[in-house]
Amino acid sequence: MHALQLDGPRLDTLRPVRLDDPAPGHGEILLRMRAVSLNYLDHAVAIGSYGSSSGPGAVTYPLIPVADGAGEVVALGAGVDSLAVGDRVAVHPKVSWPSGRASAAKAAPMRGVNRPGSLRELAAVSADSVVKAPAHLGWEQIATLPIAATTAWNGLVAADIGPGHTVVVLGTGGVSIFALQLAKARGARVIVTSSSDEKLARARALGADFVHNYRRDPAWDVAVREMTGGLGANLVVENAGAETFSRSLSSARHGGTVFVVGFLTGTAAQVDLLAIIGKALRVVGNNTGSTQDLADACTAIAAQRIEPAIDRTFALADLREAYGQMARGAHFGKLAVTLDWPRS
Ligand SMILES: NC(=O)c1ccc[n+]([C@@H]2O[C@H](COP(=O)([O-])OP(=O)(O)OC[C@H]3O[C@@H](n4cnc5c(N)ncnc54)[C@H](OP(=O)(O)O)[C@@H]3O)[C@@H](O)[C@H]2O)c1
Repeated sequence: MHALQLDGPRLDTLRPVRLDDPAPGHGEILLRMRAVSLNYLDHAVAIGSYGSSSGPGAVTYPLIPVADGAGEVVALGAGVDSLAVGDRVAVHPKVSWPSGRASAAKAAPMRGVNRPGSLRELAAVSADSVVKAPAHLGWEQIATLPIAATTAWNGLVAADIGPGHTVVVLGTGGVSIFALQLAKARGARVIVTSSSDEKLARARALGADFVHNYRRDPAWDVAVREMTGGLGANLVVENAGAETFSRSLSSARHGGTVFVVGFLTGTAAQVDLLAIIGKALRVVGNNTGSTQDLADACTAIAAQRIEPAIDRTFALADLREAYGQMARGAHFGKLAVTLDWPRS
């Protein structure tokens, strides 16, 4: 079968390889992979800036990269009765985390990081690491779901977001836009920040109640407090990292939740602990989540017929361009790649 392999922590080491076709073992299914989506994580893995260089969660090269994928079930291994040939599934990157709370053993093994990722023609994967896709979605849309929709969903669950609550999402990347769509589905008011008025207009079209250009006015936390009558937000989905963390604390209301997922602007933040103590904030970390979390997000997406926002779909031949766009943060929502392998 065709696959792409990253030989080391540099994108220019990415090259096509031919591998033996896999066969599904006990409890596994064989998938024909149809599409992938890129996450910031994939860019970080491709340039050697993801996580620590040792330990159970570290990246291992050579690696079939890209965590998220969508595939069609083409064969069932022994003992699999939850899926059928022809099912369309979202492939969850956490290979050993079917459900329940995080543990080191569940969180560390991850496709596209230290297990083979989605840039391959065929994949034999455990049946409990995939989720049947919402019927209204196409392959590329299905491929956007695993990391971003799971993470966004987990943020809303962590803060128990419901009608009338206020959610702030930072920027207009994959996690933020799923958080916007899912928060609206739960009846919340959503504030979106962005560096771009054009992206903010697109967020408005998806239901954002308030928008704020953080490039024009960096004091977005002050704006959030004003928009909420001085109270602050119930939930801040903290995608951006070190540069924004203090403002995230400042924009949350008493008893609010700062859901810490991102490191786009670095990982080492200086924190005024009184901001957390004084408002009794909940600062909640997240490491993607379980396959069950993805299933819950998919149930909500199917029920509300949410359409994942794909900025652009690339052909496989243009994969490097897709990585470049991810690196620049030039997209709104998600970037997808169709797995159109060469015929030979
Ligand atoms: N821990 C987890 O479970 C988890 C799961 C998923 C993702 N993540 C992490 O969360 C982050 C976001 O992921 P993603 O996939 O949504 O990324 P993404 O699609 O690449 O999002 C990039 C967007 O972030 C925004 N951004 C960049 N710097 C910002 C700043 N200073 N203030 C506000 N927004 C800023 C920009 O939005 P504008 O262009 O609109 O300004 C940019 O387009 C990444 O660090 C990713 O690795 C973590």
